[in-house]
Amino acid sequence: MAKNIVWQEYQITKNDREVRNNHKASVLWFTGYSGSGKSTLANAVAKELFKKEIQTFSLDGDNVRHGLNKDLGFSDLDRKENIRRISEVAKLFAESGMIITTAFISPFKEDRDFAREIIGDDFIEIFVDTPLEICKSRDPKGLYQKALNGEIKNFTGLDSPYEIPENPEIKIKTESLSVEKCVEKIINELLKREIF
Ligand code: ADX
Repeated sequence: MAKNIVWQEYQITKNDREVRNNHKASVLWFTGYSGSGKSTLANAVAKELFKKEIQTFSLDGDNVRHGLNKDLGFSDLDRKENIRRISEVAKLFAESGMIITTAFISPFKEDRDFAREIIGDDFIEIFVDTPLEICKSRDPKGLYQKALNGEIKNFTGLDSPYEIPENPEIKIKTESLSVEKCVEKIINELLKREIF
């Protein structure tokens, strides 16, 4: 634990930035199985926001694990630390006035609740509700097959659990909706919440 540290107030507040940007800050937290469509939707929503001249950025599980979190694996404890660090980074992005989309499996309710606690009112949980069987059959990275062959341990949905979100702000069914329709649903929800 660091000692003798003193919090410094920012000269430019989050509200100053939101007023300048003409939109509120927000963290759109996509959660779901590997292959559920989190990254696709997080990127598609960010693209749509960018078109609307909104300040936006995406954080993606696979990408963040190439850098900031490359020391973490997939044990329950490492996933917890993964989500904790991402939550702190997402909070900084929100503090900078941006609308950020995050795509992490974030399989544990306790860790998602902790993310909500860190990020506060800006946190919007989006459950990408694609059934495991469909994710397995899509297997875009060939990882389910590898896990089934015993080459990957602790794979979410196989030998590591995914706890279904009970009260997400938004739930998306990717089997029955096109990417465009999913994006539209999310954008409409942001409008309803007067984020922009
Ligand atoms: S999380 O559980 O800690 O939230 P995160 O979203 O960062 O996971 O990373 C998941 C991605 O890592 C998957 O989309 C997949 O490409 C890859 N991966 C590698 N090993 C595993 C594993 N054991 N379980 C789940 N995903 C894995």
